[in-house]
Amino acid sequence: MIKKVGILFGMEDTFPWAFIDKVNELGKGKIIAEAVQIDKVQQGIDYGYSVIFDRISQEVPFYRAYLKNASLMGTAVINNPFWWSADEKFFNNCLSMEMGIPVPKTVLLPSNARPDNTSETSFRNLKVPLDWEYMFDYIGFPAYMKPHDGGGWKSVYRVENSEQLFEAHKETEQLVMMLQEEIVFDDYFRVYCLGQKYVHIMPYDPRKPFHERYVSDIKATGEARKKLLKTVHDYTLRLNQALGYDFNTVEFAVRDGVPYAIDFCNPAPDADINSVGQENFDWIVEHSAKYAIEKAKEHKPNQNNSSWGGFVRNSIAPVKPKVGKVNLKTAAEAKKTAVKTAVKKAPAKTKAPAKTKAPAKPKK
Ligand SMILES: Nc1ncnc2c1ncn2[C@@H]1O[C@H](COP(=O)(O)OP(=O)(O)O)[C@@H](O)[C@H]1O
Ligand SMILES: [Mg+2]
Repeated sequence: MIKKVGILFGMEDTFPWAFIDKVNELGKGKIIAEAVQIDKVQQGIDYGYSVIFDRISQEVPFYRAYLKNASLMGTAVINNPFWWSADEKFFNNCLSMEMGIPVPKTVLLPSNARPDNTSETSFRNLKVPLDWEYMFDYIGFPAYMKPHDGGGWKSVYRVENSEQLFEAHKETEQLVMMLQEEIVFDDYFRVYCLGQKYVHIMPYDPRKPFHERYVSDIKATGEARKKLLKTVHDYTLRLNQALGYDFNTVEFAVRDGVPYAIDFCNPAPDADINSVGQENFDWIVEHSAKYAIEKAKEHKPNQNNSSWGGFVRNSIAPVKPKVGKVNLKTAAEAKKTAVKTAVKKAPAKTKAPAKTKAPAKPKK
């Protein structure tokens, strides 16, 4: 029986067509690829795809619901629409800490504006002001502030002090933000990971103009470079296996030889030939098509064929009990460490903001 691979996509115009051509080439008539066609979505109906690559449902909720039904019907949806709906970047960082993979120090900030349909009483559990002094001491300045669930470099701010932070925070309206330590890096990588096994490391310089970002050199040399690339490769696999993403990129900023995972919730990463360049594009097309063929061949009707990561699988059926949670602390332990560091460090770099400026206070 001929198996069908579909791709669901939006404005992008290079990767999807190349992917379709490549799957058709490798599929040799037994596995065929096409742009997913939808003229109706009826509950409980299997529209016949063994595999669907999803590049757009983060923007189109209608597609997300379509894909959940498809997944229930047995389609291997890449990436798993249930997990994608549940995930966000702050949780990613917490999980990364538990796994012992370095991430920048990060705190979560409540949105500056109240979400629709809430009132002041919806925020009774928030203390006003928040413990800004602790947070600023912990993170330091300059710092990055960015959405806890976002992408495409939207609403990402670099702030040098608390005044700038509060000014920027006002612009972010209902977005839940993270405040994060800046990693001043020697090297920076953007790493593709497909099928939780194919890894492609791309040196990337976010400080350069857009069209030059993927043509940067690696500064580390010799043994240090070898070790660094091995660590980046290893961390990329571990993160994607834990999260269960089959199509994702991980960004690392390298400081003093240590790769910090900066951004690893990119389930529809940029794959456009005009930004990633010919060589990277060829790798992405080749390996995503190869993986699509593997998934189509493995596909079994009437069962779940979408991937679940180690975090979910281990939560449902623990392989082994958790012992000594790496790097995770109780709030009391964190406070104790902070006090000790503060005593050593003199004087405190930032002063606590005036109470009236605290953005946590919901707007009327
Ligand atoms: N903690 C950080 N330290 C240094 N640079 C950062 C940090 N966080 C973000 N950046 C810079 O901002 C860019 C966008 O942030 P990122 O977390 O990747 O968000 P997005 O999902 O919008 O791409 C990154 O590519 C990097 O250049
Ligand atoms: Mg990014």
